[in-house]
Amino acid sequence: MVNHPFLSLNAGIDMPQVGLGVWKTPPEKTTSIVRYALNAGYLAVDTASIYGNEEGVGEALVDRPEIFLTTKLWNADQGFDSTLRAFEESARKLRRDVIDLYLIHWPVPKKHLYVETWRAMIRLRDEGRVRAIGVSNFTAEQITALIAETGTTPAINQIELHPEFQQHSLRDFHKQHGILTEAWSPLGQGQTLSNPVIEAIAKKHERTAAQIIIRWHIQNQFVVIPKSVTPSRLDENLAVFDFRLDGEDMAAIGRLDRANGRIGPDPMTADF
Ligand SMILES: NC(=O)c1ccc[n+]([C@@H]2O[C@H](COP(=O)([O-])OP(=O)(O)OC[C@H]3O[C@@H](n4cnc5c(N)ncnc54)[C@H](OP(=O)(O)O)[C@@H]3O)[C@@H](O)[C@H]2O)c1
Repeated sequence: MVNHPFLSLNAGIDMPQVGLGVWKTPPEKTTSIVRYALNAGYLAVDTASIYGNEEGVGEALVDRPEIFLTTKLWNADQGFDSTLRAFEESARKLRRDVIDLYLIHWPVPKKHLYVETWRAMIRLRDEGRVRAIGVSNFTAEQITALIAETGTTPAINQIELHPEFQQHSLRDFHKQHGILTEAWSPLGQGQTLSNPVIEAIAKKHERTAAQIIIRWHIQNQFVVIPKSVTPSRLDENLAVFDFRLDGEDMAAIGRLDRANGRIGPDPMTADF
């Protein structure tokens, strides 16, 4: 593999810029898919307790402690003590004493529990059970509240981000605070692959549409976690370190941003 890039978290550790996402990866297939990905050269896996496949991920990683592992606290477990308990359950299923990155999955503002939850995340980090802590689907205002209440800035915010939904203002906020931006549904759940602008750039570089989109994420300094259960696509999605998009390509993809391009739930109202 050519020069797999890493990005630095504010916690003082580096994480691989490309990882494997496993949302909707069936639990019974997860171990074999993650093993395939590791053999193909993936260095990071992104799971969550709600995905129901932490055990499969743990089985695949049992001899690979160097693989950067992210999991997420589910909404129903928000609260100080319940966060500590949920972490123990995830760590058990993942067969790791220490998790590299632990995220609050959604803010769920109606619960008014995310600050208390963040205090438990800080405890886990201070006790050495997680190397870095972050959030997912948080707004700038919610992150500002976490920092004001605790003095601790999340290392990363994992958000919906793809060429048709580019989140410029939140990215600017992250930059100002030294927070990494991590892109979920980076391929627009596959929908962005047939965009004619992407297809034209793919043709120009003799690459696939997925590789063009993943390159766009890499060159924007995002952490990117494309999901696939298909071996050939797992290979394809990692074969992205030996070419570059030029300024014209980046600008053309930049113009695909749409105010209503969101595919997933709106974090302000998501309440599940
Ligand atoms: N924090 C959050 O709230 C949140 C929310 C959503 C997702 N995530 C994370 O982000 C990860 C990625 O997002 P996602 O799974 O929603 O969507 P995605 O990675 O944007 O797209 C996945 C879809 O694209 C297909 N695909 C992948 N590579 C392809 C290729 N080279 N050519 C053609 N099709 C390809 C996959 O098909 P096959 O699998 O059939 O090959 C799958 O249908 C998730 O797995 C999860 O880890 C986090």
